[in-house]
Amino acid sequence: MKIGAVGLGNRIAHVFHELSQINQEAKLISYVDPLPIGKDYAEKHNFFPKKTYVTLDEMLANEKLDLLMIGSPNHLHLKHIKIGLNAGIKIFAEKPIVVDEDQSFELAKLLGEFGQDQVLVGLVLRYSQHARSVRGLIDKNSLGNIISIEASEHIMPWHGGFFMRNWRRKEKFSGGFMLEKCCHDIDFYNMIVGCRPKRVASFGGRRSFIPDNKPEKNFEEYSKYNLFGWEAKGKDNSACWIIVGLIGLIMLLMMGFSSYGVKTMTVKDKKRSVKKTVKDMMERIDLKPDGPNIEEQQLYQNLKNIVQTI
Ligand SMILES: NC(=O)c1ccc[n+]([C@@H]2O[C@H](COP(=O)([O-])OP(=O)(O)OC[C@H]3O[C@@H](n4cnc5c(N)ncnc54)[C@H](O)[C@@H]3O)[C@@H](O)[C@H]2O)c1
Repeated sequence: MKIGAVGLGNRIAHVFHELSQINQEAKLISYVDPLPIGKDYAEKHNFFPKKTYVTLDEMLANEKLDLLMIGSPNHLHLKHIKIGLNAGIKIFAEKPIVVDEDQSFELAKLLGEFGQDQVLVGLVLRYSQHARSVRGLIDKNSLGNIISIEASEHIMPWHGGFFMRNWRRKEKFSGGFMLEKCCHDIDFYNMIVGCRPKRVASFGGRRSFIPDNKPEKNFEEYSKYNLFGWEAKGKDNSACWIIVGLIGLIMLLMMGFSSYGVKTMTVKDKKRSVKKTVKDMMERIDLKPDGPNIEEQQLYQNLKNIVQTI
């Protein structure tokens, strides 16, 4: 099985290595990556490919691959998926495969056109032992009807720190922490309730990771898990302690439109939220363009204008 990678970072190096352990036929032939962070790991395990290309188009035009592995930063996934699908190649894309709503619809169209089976997604939590155990309980109907879920995930400081390091800490590259990290969790909860959430709310903070809390005594222990990568500020870990930190994330599912703290909402989120509220209200009061009188028709028109101009 000939494999090409776009974004040969920590993750794809690790995933490929695991794959090669169970499938001797898997060969990493070539890659596209301006600075392959997974290089040391790949060299150590003897699979760093000899061939490299500057662009994905170029690689797909020159190599006859069976699988394309996408492990670039999140904001590039859709672009890489699109190129792969158009080249007719099967894709393994790391989660999350899109970073916003517009991209979701674009991806949905692409999957409609090329077929869902063409894209495998790295939502691995659903295959973990505890997810399997919960699925087993659901299959036996041991849990009954789930009315609501209250979930909190406590991640170790170095794990939380890692999520706020390198490209991940910038929303424009990662899509935000809720997407980058919690897409696994939401996927897991979707499985439990057998449907998708209407609303997701959460709260969290970064106040834990401040210089005052720097673990001087066991700094080695804390820092050994920090992975350095694209956009990381050199090897100075102190940046991590200042910027980082997200501990205690609570998600309440099934409650309404997704927002995670008004203060952290971007203008785009706020606009979307207002639009949705107005639209919902129009639906609730059954406001229609051909309402029973001119006043109601005008009200409809005015609100529609507002929605369109936001
Ligand atoms: N499924 C999981 O549990 C899991 C775990 C970790 C990471 N991931 C996902 O894997 C992806 C990669 O994460 P990572 O930890 O390997 O990050 P990383 O920073 O180690 O690797 C990203 C790689 O992409 C490369 N890159 C940047 N711009 C590029 C471009 N224009 N074209 C090609 N390559 C480019 C970088 O040079 C780097 O080598 C992310 O989407 C992340 O969310 C998933």
